Amino acid sequence: MIDQITIGRIQDAAQIVDVVSDFVTLRRRGANYVGLCPFHDDRTPSFYVSPSKNICKCFACGEGGSPIHFVMKHEQFSYYEALKYLARKYGIEVVEKEYTDEEKQAQSDRESMFILNEYARDYFVKILHTHPEGKAVGMTYFRERGFRDDVIKKFQLGYSLEQRDAFSTEAQKAGYRRDYLLKTGLSAGGEHNQPLVDRFRGRVLFPVQTLSGKVVAFGGRILKKVENVGKYVNSPESEIYSKSRELYGIYFAKSAIVKQDKCFLVEGYTDVISMHQAGIENVVASSGTALTHGQIRMIHRFSENITVLYDGDAAGIKAALRGIDLLLEDGMNIKVVLLPEGEDPDSFARKQNAEQFNRFILENEVDFIRFKTQLLLEETGDDPVKRAGLISNVVESIALIPNAITRSVYIQECAQMLQMQERVLIAEINRIRRRNYDRKKEQKEREEKVQSASLPSVTAATGEKPRKGVATGPFDRFEREIIRYVIRYGNTPIYRKYEKQKRKEGKKVVEEDVLVEEGPGVTEFVRYDLERDRIAFSNDLYRRIFEEATAHLQDAHFDAGRHFISHADPEISRLASELMSDRYQLSKIHAKILGEEAGDKSSRLLERNLLNSYVPRATTELKNAYVLQKIEEIKRALKTAGQNDFTGLIEQLQQLQEIKKVLSKELGERIILKY
Ligand code: CTP
Ligand code: MN
Repeated sequence: MIDQITIGRIQDAAQIVDVVSDFVTLRRRGANYVGLCPFHDDRTPSFYVSPSKNICKCFACGEGGSPIHFVMKHEQFSYYEALKYLARKYGIEVVEKEYTDEEKQAQSDRESMFILNEYARDYFVKILHTHPEGKAVGMTYFRERGFRDDVIKKFQLGYSLEQRDAFSTEAQKAGYRRDYLLKTGLSAGGEHNQPLVDRFRGRVLFPVQTLSGKVVAFGGRILKKVENVGKYVNSPESEIYSKSRELYGIYFAKSAIVKQDKCFLVEGYTDVISMHQAGIENVVASSGTALTHGQIRMIHRFSENITVLYDGDAAGIKAALRGIDLLLEDGMNIKVVLLPEGEDPDSFARKQNAEQFNRFILENEVDFIRFKTQLLLEETGDDPVKRAGLISNVVESIALIPNAITRSVYIQECAQMLQMQERVLIAEINRIRRRNYDRKKEQKEREEKVQSASLPSVTAATGEKPRKGVATGPFDRFEREIIRYVIRYGNTPIYRKYEKQKRKEGKKVVEEDVLVEEGPGVTEFVRYDLERDRIAFSNDLYRRIFEEATAHLQDAHFDAGRHFISHADPEISRLASELMSDRYQLSKIHAKILGEEAGDKSSRLLERNLLNSYVPRATTELKNAYVLQKIEEIKRALKTAGQNDFTGLIEQLQQLQEIKKVLSKELGERIILKY
């Protein structure tokens, strides 16, 4: 346990910018900082860090909070672990006592596994450095490979004794439980109360660290070549380890990646270590497997530039080419360095010092698309069929690049290399992009269908809005807002005008408010305002509700809320009760305008009195969304338009920009009105 005074000290010391910067590269924006959100697939920086409030928040996915919350979420720490982590970071002393048996029991599985892995790492390091077998076998091996003592220490390399249960027995003696030894994969066997066996026995060990330096796994390399025995044994996938999520070396590389604004990508543990030893520290390994989006995102948080180092043999290159498309898709700038025949980064680094190695890279680094095109060109020669295949292969890669400007640069260049007309390549790339887009959309729809089919009905019972999994169009949230007013207020006039009038009452003259004017009902206003711009609800459910509401326009006693809540269609009644509940009283948009107090009860009154500005605002927002979408469409069309269509499109675009200006002004003024 940590006492309250220490917790306070930790809270005072932890600076949000500082804490987040260990995991995300932040750029200053005004009084705040922004970066790519580590909690969702973020391609434009949505993650805001406010030093003055000492909090962070993602405006896209909503994740964030205090420094403690951030590390809890990011590192999957418990509150206690997060405090310990921050205390270590800021050099605040936390008196740690030995865990009692009860405390050990109480820790979550994940925590226990981390603690055990830490213990194992220290144990294997100790064996390597102090045990006779460790020194004679393990240390000799590392020395023969040319690893220096300082790198052996830095990467926490270790050795596991030949004796089949040396580690498992020692760990259990120290109080670590069998089930965690099995869960982490450090030990195996143990059925029918048989003793546990060490997974890594007789191997040198490479601990795998997360971004924050926690040990999630080990790679154990065999020392001598043995037939039918794998060179490496790795920890199994577990609650704390997923091979495709980690990047070997990222913990030791991250600050160098930021400093150099570049990351080298290699294949294996030994490549990373040898390059560090040669003085090149911005390097990570994919550990022999294809890169995943998650791994790329991890690099992307620190730099957009990645250079892949390949062994000089042809088979390796071809295999590696395939993995690169993912990098392109994530908007990375990719370069490639081909090492001399027969060398891998490990062997090559051992023959060079940092300066020579860096020079070699600078001189041999080529852009990936150029590299791929060149490589395929050499291979296909003059064969026209192969050539066609080559072109479509290159074009597929270019089509993945998200940035239009970057794409067009490549198109120009490849047109030259392939001796083709640019416009042919452009047309082909546009076709592929459309196809990819359709495929993605289809897949997304399929996933959403599956998800929404399995959505539990609890969401209805709790009034929780089933946000995830329900297909929503681009206008959905604006339409929903309008429907909310229709259901809540139906035929209520959007305004009533009163005047003070004096009236004689006997001898006295009394002053009273008299209704002199009444605006249209909410439903009526919405119908008029949307029809004016020929806008209909795109969401089928909303459209049905709206049609029903307009059917009751003449009925002065129509209570829209009650009508829809008790509707026979369960979908409608569910939505209605959701929108009628006070939790959804004010939309986010309006809550922002009105400030924090908008959430409380009295805001109900407030809203009723301000329908005159709220409802038109809601319809204007929908119109605005339409205009923005139309502008996007035209911009997209412009990219591929021929000379003939061009002028027409530009004219349309200008008109829309004008409308947009008017709408923005309207929206802007309405905001001011309400203060
Ligand atoms: N790898 C693995 N299991 C294997 C072989 C390889 O997990 N059976 C992973 C390891 O992460 C390894 C990487 O793939 O580091 C690259 O493989 P390789 O080049 O064969 O290994 P090196 O680490 O380079 O080992 P060495 O130089 O000692 O041969
Ligand atoms: Mn190697």
